[in-house]
Amino acid sequence: MGQRSKDLPRRSCLSVPGSSDRFLEKGPTIAADMTFLDLEDSVAPSEKVGARQKVAEAVRKLDWGDRVLCVRINAWDTRWTYGDVIEVVGNAGERLDEVMLPKVQSASEVEALDMLLTQVEANSGLPLGHIGIEAQIETTRGLINVEEICAASSRLEAIIFGPADFAASMEMPVLTGGVQIADYPGDHFHYVFSKILMAGRANGLQVIDGPFLKIRELDQLREYCMRTRVLGYDGKWCLHPDQVTVINEVFSPTQEQFDKAWDILDAYRRATEEEGKGAVMFGDEMIDEASRKMAIKFVARGERSGLRRRSS
Ligand code: GLV
Ligand code: MG
Repeated sequence: MGQRSKDLPRRSCLSVPGSSDRFLEKGPTIAADMTFLDLEDSVAPSEKVGARQKVAEAVRKLDWGDRVLCVRINAWDTRWTYGDVIEVVGNAGERLDEVMLPKVQSASEVEALDMLLTQVEANSGLPLGHIGIEAQIETTRGLINVEEICAASSRLEAIIFGPADFAASMEMPVLTGGVQIADYPGDHFHYVFSKILMAGRANGLQVIDGPFLKIRELDQLREYCMRTRVLGYDGKWCLHPDQVTVINEVFSPTQEQFDKAWDILDAYRRATEEEGKGAVMFGDEMIDEASRKMAIKFVARGERSGLRRRSS
């Protein structure tokens, strides 16, 4: 399955409206880890069909470097889904890594996309299983079924929270999605963030937070991102190049954290393999097998974001 992209970093995931020649041309110049060309909510209904060809051409002709490259198709409750897959995946060529399915409500929606992709791959000469899937959880039913959704296909690479549609689905009294609500004593999405993260991790998926709609408020964005970063999310959507810079920074371990993780791995290996001890002091902390597991995740994430160990 989309092995090229499965473990690539997705700290910053940039949305590019698929009907805009100008934004499509600009896409490759913005240093996001992942870019998705959108056929869904940033494209007007009258432009949806025309945008398919623009998007397929942009995938084929522009130089996207080695970032994860994705197309967001329309949800299964519209009339565009199958046409989006046939026309875009059928014509985009091998550089397309993934398709993003919005408003996923049940595992069967992912299974249906998986089967359709298999046929389109066979008919367009793509390796079978080449195209990965990212699924958006942004309805109440999707959240209720998130565990089955995350296990629905071996093509799945990432699960994404969509705060704007989710707020609408919950009928929350807010007019701006994906920002802190001052009147709520705590984080109104804490349960949602945790539930999606657990379902994703239990199935080996990357887990991504959706958009922050106040695009000029970069300090607020930085503060807001920290909640999903601290929980363990891999990255967050960006709607503007300025958001990419902030999000890449927030979702990377620091060099100190990365080097410390390596040092813990070394100390633990020496303790278990050379001294026959299961727990050992590391500075003023006791470390054991659980510390090794935490450190391994840090190292993997740091390597994914381009860090290399400083020689100690
Ligand atoms: C993203 O698609 C969202 O609805 O927040
Ligand atoms: Mg949405």
